Amino acid sequence: MRLKNKICIVTGGGDGIGRATAVKFAEEGAVVAVADINEKAIEETVNIIKQKGNMAEGFKVDVTQKDQINEMVSKIMENYKRIDVLVNNAGIVKDAQLYKMSDEQFEQVINVNLKGVYLCTRAVIDIMISQNSGVILNTSSIVGLYGNFGQTNYAASKAALIGMTRTWAKELGRKGIRCNAVCPGFIATPILKSMPEKVLLTMEEKVPMRRLGKPEEVANVFAFLASDEASYVNGAIVEVSGGLII
Ligand code: NAI
Repeated sequence: MRLKNKICIVTGGGDGIGRATAVKFAEEGAVVAVADINEKAIEETVNIIKQKGNMAEGFKVDVTQKDQINEMVSKIMENYKRIDVLVNNAGIVKDAQLYKMSDEQFEQVINVNLKGVYLCTRAVIDIMISQNSGVILNTSSIVGLYGNFGQTNYAASKAALIGMTRTWAKELGRKGIRCNAVCPGFIATPILKSMPEKVLLTMEEKVPMRRLGKPEEVANVFAFLASDEASYVNGAIVEVSGGLII
């Protein structure tokens, strides 16, 4: 029960890595706010958590919409009076090679993956500062570190998260707040559906472990980073990729 009674928000908690993280955090004793744009997905995650006898509440939130984020934060503060952990996990892909990419594709990905993280963190940061404690976890990607074919927009958004993570680690460490990022490799979730089967097989072959990751394997790292066991881990960029880039 490493997260006993911690109040945690997981954005994009409806599916994939976010769902696995919400479930894991709740198993570790947290009260989890499952924030997602997809109502049905929220309901499914909340049901999984409640069926295990753990605590969760769903919030329909688009991370690009400040009003919706603020409304969720106000409700959490009314009910629980604090916010201990924010996992910025909501993310999308809109792939195209640079010469085919539309401005819309570029802007949509930057809005969700980068501005969404800024908006969500901005909405909780005064609360964490006044508590003199808190944990911010950002979901970057190995693509943010090394780039990827067809992902100008996505790579830019994920690289930017590394810059923000390190900046926040520097600004907020003295205020009792830790900020870290996780860089997953290729993890078997619905986001990979848009990738051709052939590309995925090639990726698997490149991984020293010869398989894709499971969402739970990223969730386990988030759980450690969110917990007091990681009390001196700040500004870290943790790869969870099965050793893809070595
Ligand atoms: P997913 O597609 O399975 O889940 C993403 C969730 O975010 C969905 O439930 C979706 O409804 C939600 N979402 C999308 N736009 C939203 C918005 N505007 N507001 C609120 N919620 C929104 O994706 P997956 O794989 O679980 O990805 C989670 C994070 O991990 C993303 O940031 C992704 O970029 C990152 N990641 C994933 C990798 C992978 O191989 N699956 C690798 C590296 C990073």
